[in-house]
Amino acid sequence: MSSRKSFIKSATLSGMGVLLGSNLMAEPNKEDKKTKPTAIRKPLVLSTWRFGIQANEAAWAILGKGGKALDAVEAGVKIPEGDPKERSVGYGGRPDRDGRVTLDACIMDELGNIGSVAALEHIKHPISVARAVMEKTPHVMLVGDGALQFALEQGFPKENLLVEDSEKEWKEWLKKSEYKPIANIENHDTIGMIALDENGNLSGACTTSGMAYKMHGRVGDSPIIGAGLYVDNEIGAATATGHGEEVIRIVGCHLVVELMRQGKNPEDACKEAVARVVNLMKVRGKNLKDIQVGFIAINKQGEHGSYCVQSGFNYAICDGKSNVLVDSAYHSKV
Ligand code: GLY
Repeated sequence: MSSRKSFIKSATLSGMGVLLGSNLMAEPNKEDKKTKPTAIRKPLVLSTWRFGIQANEAAWAILGKGGKALDAVEAGVKIPEGDPKERSVGYGGRPDRDGRVTLDACIMDELGNIGSVAALEHIKHPISVARAVMEKTPHVMLVGDGALQFALEQGFPKENLLVEDSEKEWKEWLKKSEYKPIANIENHDTIGMIALDENGNLSGACTTSGMAYKMHGRVGDSPIIGAGLYVDNEIGAATATGHGEEVIRIVGCHLVVELMRQGKNPEDACKEAVARVVNLMKVRGKNLKDIQVGFIAINKQGEHGSYCVQSGFNYAICDGKSNVLVDSAYHSKV
Protein backbone atom coordinates (compact mmCIF):
# COMPACT_ATOMS: atom_id res chain seq x y z
CA MET A 1 0.00 0.00 0.00
CA SER A 2 1.26 3.47 -0.71
CA SER A 3 2.10 5.83 2.11
CA ARG A 4 -0.75 7.24 4.13
CA LYS A 5 -0.07 10.70 2.78
CA SER A 6 -0.33 9.79 -0.87
CA PHE A 7 -3.17 7.37 -0.30
CA ILE A 8 -5.51 9.67 1.60
CA LYS A 9 -6.67 12.57 -0.52
CA SER A 10 -8.93 13.79 2.18
CA ALA A 11 -9.44 17.29 0.81
CA THR A 12 -13.02 17.89 -0.25
CA LEU A 13 -13.12 17.56 -4.01
CA SER A 14 -16.58 18.99 -4.20
CA GLY A 15 -16.25 20.01 -7.82
CA MET A 16 -15.58 16.39 -8.72
CA GLY A 17 -18.47 15.14 -6.68
CA VAL A 18 -21.01 14.48 -9.36
CA LEU A 19 -18.49 12.85 -11.66
CA LEU A 20 -16.97 10.59 -9.06
CA GLY A 21 -20.30 9.86 -7.43
CA SER A 22 -21.94 8.78 -10.66
CA ASN A 23 -21.30 5.81 -12.85
CA LEU A 24 -19.71 7.84 -15.60
CA MET A 25 -16.29 6.56 -14.64
CA ALA A 26 -17.44 2.96 -14.59
CA GLU A 27 -19.27 3.07 -17.89
CA PRO A 28 -17.13 1.61 -20.69
CA ASN A 29 -17.30 3.29 -24.06
CA LYS A 30 -19.48 1.59 -26.66
CA GLU A 31 -16.52 -0.11 -28.32
CA ASP A 32 -15.35 -1.64 -25.04
CA LYS A 33 -18.85 -2.90 -24.33
CA LYS A 34 -18.83 -4.95 -27.49
CA THR A 35 -15.42 -6.47 -27.01
CA LYS A 36 -14.87 -7.04 -23.29
CA PRO A 37 -16.89 -7.16 -20.09
CA THR A 38 -16.55 -4.30 -17.61
CA ALA A 39 -13.80 -5.09 -15.11
CA ILE A 40 -15.07 -5.41 -11.56
CA ARG A 41 -13.57 -2.66 -9.47
CA LYS A 42 -12.62 -4.18 -6.13
CA PRO A 43 -11.87 -3.83 -3.33
CA LEU A 44 -13.89 -0.72 -2.69
CA VAL A 45 -15.42 0.95 0.34
CA LEU A 46 -17.93 3.82 0.61
CA SER A 47 -19.13 5.58 3.72
CA THR A 48 -21.34 8.50 4.58
CA TRP A 49 -20.21 12.04 5.48
CA ARG A 50 -16.81 13.52 6.13
CA PHE A 51 -15.92 11.12 8.94
CA GLY A 52 -16.08 8.47 6.22
CA ILE A 53 -12.56 9.43 5.17
CA GLN A 54 -10.98 8.18 8.40
CA ALA A 55 -13.43 5.32 8.64
CA ASN A 56 -12.52 4.22 5.10
CA GLU A 57 -8.86 4.34 6.05
CA ALA A 58 -9.48 1.85 8.86
CA ALA A 59 -11.57 -0.33 6.55
CA TRP A 60 -8.87 -0.22 3.89
CA ALA A 61 -6.29 -1.54 6.36
CA ILE A 62 -8.30 -4.79 6.10
CA LEU A 63 -9.58 -4.67 2.52
CA GLY A 64 -6.19 -3.73 1.10
CA LYS A 65 -4.68 -6.91 2.50
CA GLY A 66 -7.35 -9.12 0.98
CA GLY A 67 -9.47 -9.11 4.16
CA LYS A 68 -13.21 -9.62 4.41
CA ALA A 69 -15.70 -6.85 3.76
CA LEU A 70 -17.47 -7.77 7.00
CA ASP A 71 -14.34 -7.17 9.09
CA ALA A 72 -13.60 -3.99 7.16
CA VAL A 73 -16.99 -2.36 7.73
CA GLU A 74 -16.96 -3.16 11.44
CA ALA A 75 -13.44 -1.74 11.86
CA GLY A 76 -14.32 1.29 9.74
CA VAL A 77 -17.40 2.48 11.58
CA LYS A 78 -15.74 1.94 14.94
CA ILE A 79 -13.62 5.04 14.21
CA PRO A 80 -16.42 7.63 14.57
CA GLU A 81 -18.12 5.44 17.20
CA GLY A 82 -15.05 5.81 19.41
CA ASP A 83 -14.50 9.52 18.77
CA PRO A 84 -15.77 11.65 21.69
CA LYS A 85 -15.89 14.71 19.42
CA GLU A 86 -18.47 13.20 17.07
CA ARG A 87 -21.93 14.23 18.21
CA SER A 88 -23.98 11.86 16.06
CA VAL A 89 -22.39 8.44 16.53
CA GLY A 90 -21.31 6.33 19.52
CA TYR A 91 -19.24 7.78 22.36
CA GLY A 92 -19.85 11.55 22.50
CA GLY A 93 -23.18 11.24 20.68
CA ARG A 94 -25.97 13.61 21.68
CA PRO A 95 -28.40 12.24 24.26
CA ASP A 96 -32.16 11.92 24.05
CA ARG A 97 -34.35 14.53 25.76
CA ASP A 98 -33.87 12.72 29.08
CA GLY A 99 -30.10 13.02 28.84
CA ARG A 100 -29.51 9.37 27.94
CA VAL A 101 -27.21 8.43 25.06
CA THR A 102 -28.96 5.60 23.24
CA LEU A 103 -27.30 3.98 20.24
CA ASP A 104 -28.59 2.10 17.18
CA ALA A 105 -26.50 -0.10 14.86
CA CYS A 106 -26.73 -2.98 12.43
CA ILE A 107 -24.46 -5.13 10.29
CA MET A 108 -25.06 -7.49 7.35
CA ASP A 109 -22.73 -9.87 5.53
CA GLU A 110 -22.58 -11.56 2.15
CA LEU A 111 -24.53 -14.59 3.33
CA GLY A 112 -27.52 -12.63 4.55
CA ASN A 113 -26.45 -12.90 8.18
CA ILE A 114 -27.72 -9.90 10.13
CA GLY A 115 -27.36 -8.46 13.60
CA SER A 116 -28.75 -5.34 15.16
CA VAL A 117 -29.08 -3.40 18.41
CA ALA A 118 -31.38 -0.50 19.17
CA ALA A 119 -31.61 1.94 22.07
CA LEU A 120 -28.44 0.48 23.54
CA GLU A 121 -26.89 2.50 26.37
CA HIS A 122 -23.39 2.57 27.93
CA ILE A 123 -21.55 0.63 25.21
CA LYS A 124 -19.06 2.52 23.06
CA HIS A 125 -19.17 0.20 20.04
CA PRO A 126 -22.74 -0.84 19.29
CA ILE A 127 -21.63 -2.17 15.90
CA SER A 128 -19.59 -4.87 17.61
CA VAL A 129 -22.55 -5.78 19.80
CA ALA A 130 -24.67 -6.01 16.63
CA ARG A 131 -22.07 -8.36 15.16
CA ALA A 132 -22.14 -10.44 18.35
CA VAL A 133 -25.95 -10.65 18.08
CA MET A 134 -25.45 -11.91 14.52
CA GLU A 135 -22.78 -14.45 15.36
CA LYS A 136 -23.61 -15.60 18.87
CA THR A 137 -27.38 -15.61 19.21
CA PRO A 138 -30.28 -17.25 17.37
CA HIS A 139 -31.81 -13.76 17.01
CA VAL A 140 -31.21 -10.77 14.75
CA MET A 141 -32.09 -7.81 16.97
CA LEU A 142 -31.80 -6.93 20.66
CA VAL A 143 -33.04 -3.67 22.15
CA GLY A 144 -32.69 -1.55 25.27
CA ASP A 145 -31.93 -3.34 28.53
CA GLY A 146 -31.79 -6.71 26.80
CA ALA A 147 -29.15 -5.46 24.39
CA LEU A 148 -27.15 -4.01 27.29
CA GLN A 149 -27.44 -7.23 29.31
CA PHE A 150 -26.19 -9.22 26.32
CA ALA A 151 -23.32 -6.80 25.70
CA LEU A 152 -22.17 -7.01 29.32
CA GLU A 153 -22.38 -10.81 29.22
CA GLN A 154 -20.17 -10.70 26.13
CA GLY A 155 -17.58 -8.68 28.03
CA PHE A 156 -18.16 -5.23 26.55
CA PRO A 157 -17.26 -2.61 29.19
CA LYS A 158 -20.02 -0.40 30.63
CA GLU A 159 -19.11 3.24 30.08
CA ASN A 160 -20.54 6.71 30.42
CA LEU A 161 -21.07 7.91 26.83
CA LEU A 162 -22.31 11.41 27.67
CA VAL A 163 -19.24 13.62 27.35
CA GLU A 164 -19.02 16.91 29.16
CA ASP A 165 -19.53 19.21 26.15
CA SER A 166 -22.49 17.21 24.94
CA GLU A 167 -24.06 17.32 28.41
CA LYS A 168 -23.63 21.11 28.46
CA GLU A 169 -25.33 21.44 25.04
CA TRP A 170 -28.19 19.22 26.22
CA LYS A 171 -28.69 21.34 29.36
CA GLU A 172 -28.78 24.42 27.16
CA TRP A 173 -31.35 22.72 24.90
CA LEU A 174 -33.49 21.86 27.94
CA LYS A 175 -34.11 25.57 28.57
CA LYS A 176 -36.38 25.70 25.50
CA SER A 177 -36.80 21.99 24.80
CA GLU A 178 -37.65 22.67 21.17
CA TYR A 179 -37.55 19.62 18.98
CA LYS A 180 -36.55 20.82 15.52
CA PRO A 181 -34.13 18.57 13.67
CA ILE A 182 -32.30 20.57 11.01
CA ALA A 183 -30.94 18.93 7.88
CA ASN A 184 -27.13 18.92 7.46
CA ILE A 185 -26.69 21.02 10.57
CA GLU A 186 -23.16 19.74 11.09
CA ASN A 187 -22.49 18.09 7.80
CA HIS A 188 -22.62 14.67 9.37
CA ASP A 189 -25.05 12.23 10.89
CA THR A 190 -25.16 8.45 10.84
CA ILE A 191 -22.19 6.54 9.49
CA GLY A 192 -23.24 3.93 6.96
CA MET A 193 -20.48 1.94 5.28
CA ILE A 194 -20.66 -0.58 2.43
CA ALA A 195 -17.72 -2.55 1.04
CA LEU A 196 -16.82 -4.94 -1.75
CA ASP A 197 -13.80 -7.10 -0.95
CA GLU A 198 -11.12 -8.79 -3.03
CA ASN A 199 -13.25 -11.95 -3.25
CA GLY A 200 -16.16 -9.95 -4.62
CA ASN A 201 -18.21 -10.21 -1.44
CA LEU A 202 -20.30 -7.36 -0.07
CA SER A 203 -21.04 -6.35 3.53
CA GLY A 204 -22.35 -3.26 5.29
CA ALA A 205 -22.59 -1.56 8.67
CA CYS A 206 -24.60 1.37 9.96
CA THR A 207 -24.37 3.09 13.36
CA THR A 208 -25.71 6.24 15.00
CA SER A 209 -26.77 7.94 18.21
CA GLY A 210 -29.91 8.95 16.32
CA MET A 211 -31.62 12.28 16.40
CA ALA A 212 -30.44 14.63 19.08
CA TYR A 213 -32.93 15.08 21.94
CA LYS A 214 -35.28 12.46 20.53
CA MET A 215 -37.98 10.95 22.73
CA HIS A 216 -36.55 8.23 24.95
CA GLY A 217 -37.05 4.93 23.14
CA ARG A 218 -37.17 6.47 19.65
CA VAL A 219 -35.49 4.21 17.09
CA GLY A 220 -34.54 5.38 13.60
CA ASP A 221 -33.66 3.56 10.42
CA SER A 222 -30.04 2.76 11.26
CA PRO A 223 -30.58 -0.52 13.14
CA ILE A 224 -33.38 -1.66 10.84
CA ILE A 225 -32.17 -4.07 8.17
CA GLY A 226 -33.83 -3.06 4.91
CA ALA A 227 -34.23 0.56 6.00
CA GLY A 228 -30.80 1.88 7.05
CA LEU A 229 -28.80 -0.92 5.43
CA TYR A 230 -29.23 -3.76 3.00
CA VAL A 231 -26.83 -6.17 1.32
CA ASP A 232 -27.62 -8.72 -1.37
CA ASN A 233 -24.44 -10.42 -2.48
CA GLU A 234 -25.85 -11.16 -5.93
CA ILE A 235 -26.80 -7.55 -6.60
CA GLY A 236 -25.30 -4.84 -4.40
CA ALA A 237 -25.47 -2.98 -1.12
CA ALA A 238 -26.94 0.30 0.13
CA THR A 239 -26.97 2.35 3.29
CA ALA A 240 -28.79 5.49 4.37
CA THR A 241 -28.37 8.63 6.43
CA GLY A 242 -30.70 11.41 7.49
CA HIS A 243 -34.19 11.43 8.94
CA GLY A 244 -34.78 7.82 9.83
CA GLU A 245 -38.55 8.05 9.93
CA GLU A 246 -38.60 8.88 6.22
CA VAL A 247 -36.18 6.07 5.36
CA ILE A 248 -38.22 3.51 7.31
CA ARG A 249 -41.40 4.68 5.57
CA ILE A 250 -40.08 3.50 2.20
CA VAL A 251 -37.85 0.65 3.51
CA GLY A 252 -35.16 2.61 1.73
CA CYS A 253 -32.08 0.44 1.37
CA HIS A 254 -33.96 -2.70 0.43
CA LEU A 255 -35.69 -0.61 -2.20
CA VAL A 256 -32.37 0.68 -3.57
CA VAL A 257 -30.99 -2.87 -3.86
CA GLU A 258 -34.18 -4.12 -5.52
CA LEU A 259 -34.03 -1.25 -8.01
CA MET A 260 -30.45 -2.27 -8.86
CA ARG A 261 -31.73 -5.84 -9.34
CA GLN A 262 -34.17 -4.43 -11.90
CA GLY A 263 -31.26 -2.94 -13.82
CA LYS A 264 -30.83 0.56 -12.45
CA ASN A 265 -27.29 1.76 -11.84
CA PRO A 266 -26.50 2.71 -8.21
CA GLU A 267 -27.11 6.44 -8.59
CA ASP A 268 -30.41 5.97 -10.41
CA ALA A 269 -31.55 3.44 -7.81
CA CYS A 270 -30.77 5.94 -5.03
CA LYS A 271 -32.50 8.68 -7.03
CA GLU A 272 -35.69 6.64 -7.34
CA ALA A 273 -35.67 5.92 -3.59
CA VAL A 274 -35.29 9.65 -2.90
CA ALA A 275 -38.20 10.32 -5.27
CA ARG A 276 -40.34 8.00 -3.13
CA VAL A 277 -39.34 9.91 0.01
CA VAL A 278 -40.16 13.21 -1.68
CA ASN A 279 -43.49 11.91 -2.94
CA LEU A 280 -44.61 10.67 0.48
CA MET A 281 -43.63 13.99 2.04
CA LYS A 282 -45.81 15.77 -0.53
CA VAL A 283 -48.72 13.35 -0.13
CA ARG A 284 -48.62 13.93 3.63
CA GLY A 285 -48.41 17.70 3.22
CA LYS A 286 -44.99 17.91 4.87
CA ASN A 287 -42.30 20.46 4.12
CA LEU A 288 -39.40 18.88 2.26
CA LYS A 289 -37.05 21.56 3.62
CA ASP A 290 -37.38 20.03 7.09
CA ILE A 291 -35.70 16.79 6.18
CA GLN A 292 -32.63 15.27 4.65
CA VAL A 293 -32.25 11.68 3.46
CA GLY A 294 -29.24 10.36 1.57
CA PHE A 295 -28.49 6.94 0.12
CA ILE A 296 -25.21 5.48 -1.10
CA ALA A 297 -24.97 2.23 -3.07
CA ILE A 298 -22.50 -0.18 -4.67
CA ASN A 299 -23.35 -2.87 -7.16
CA LYS A 300 -21.61 -6.17 -7.65
CA GLN A 301 -19.44 -4.70 -10.44
CA GLY A 302 -18.04 -2.08 -8.10
CA GLU A 303 -20.05 0.74 -9.68
CA HIS A 304 -21.28 3.18 -7.07
CA GLY A 305 -23.49 6.19 -6.65
CA SER A 306 -25.56 8.31 -4.35
CA TYR A 307 -28.57 10.58 -4.18
CA CYS A 308 -30.07 12.77 -1.46
CA VAL A 309 -33.06 15.00 -0.86
CA GLN A 310 -31.21 18.25 -0.30
CA SER A 311 -27.76 19.42 -1.32
CA GLY A 312 -25.15 19.15 1.41
CA PHE A 313 -24.74 15.42 1.81
CA ASN A 314 -21.32 14.00 1.00
CA TYR A 315 -19.66 10.63 1.24
CA ALA A 316 -16.21 9.08 1.04
CA ILE A 317 -15.04 6.62 -1.62
CA CYS A 318 -11.87 4.59 -1.20
CA ASP A 319 -10.45 2.18 -3.76
CA GLY A 320 -6.83 2.07 -2.61
CA LYS A 321 -5.70 4.63 -5.16
CA SER A 322 -7.61 7.43 -3.51
CA ASN A 323 -9.88 8.12 -0.57
CA VAL A 324 -11.98 11.13 -1.48
CA LEU A 325 -14.96 13.00 -0.14
CA VAL A 326 -17.49 13.74 -2.87
CA ASP A 327 -20.76 15.63 -3.00
CA SER A 328 -23.88 13.61 -3.61
CA ALA A 329 -26.29 14.33 -6.43
CA TYR A 330 -29.49 15.80 -4.95
CA HIS A 331 -33.18 16.45 -5.51
CA SER A 332 -33.25 20.09 -4.39
CA LYS A 333 -30.78 22.80 -3.55
CA VAL A 334 -30.87 24.10 0.00
N1 GLY B 1 -30.56 8.09 10.35
C1 GLY B 1 -30.41 8.13 11.72
C2 GLY B 1 -31.64 8.27 12.49
O1 GLY B 1 -32.64 8.75 11.98
O2 GLY B 1 -31.65 7.91 13.64
